[in-house]
Amino acid sequence: MVLGYLIILNNYLHDVATAMVISLTLLMTYIGRQVDAGSPPEQKEFFLRIYRYFSRLALFSLVWILAGGIPRALAFNSYELLPAAQKGIVPVLIFKHIILFGLVFAGILLWRRINHKVKRITVN
Ligand code: HEM
Repeated sequence: MVLGYLIILNNYLHDVATAMVISLTLLMTYIGRQVDAGSPPEQKEFFLRIYRYFSRLALFSLVWILAGGIPRALAFNSYELLPAAQKGIVPVLIFKHIILFGLVFAGILLWRRINHKVKRITVN
């Protein structure tokens, strides 16, 4: 019973952490576009503070997704397989994960670009 609640909570947090990574990446990309090496110092300082905070949160969420994915996968057969099989959506779930991995990979590339920008701004 308690284990069931924990699994449902864990599965929900797996989804929330995914949304966190995607939202933080989009926000950081948008904010990063507003700043460059020639921007006023206060603006650069503000960008760097947001960058540090957002990147810590995004990394924490990513670790959470991966760690929480393990109990989710282990409990999948007893908690999620039956309803998914009844609806005939098991292949869609697999396909959805491939898309999600692609999104996370695209997110990592975006964070690398933001990282380069941070280095340019810090040097100047
Ligand atoms: C960055 C990588 C990952 C992302 C973005 C991600 C995201 C998601 C999302 C959004 C769902 C919910 C799908 C739905 O309810 O319709 C989900 C489901 C699930 N995830 Fe992940 N996940 C990732 C990695 C993992 C890993 C590494 C594991 C296992 C070790 C895992 C195991 C599962 C399982 C078993 C489900 C339920 C079946 C399904 O809906 O596909 N996930 N994942």
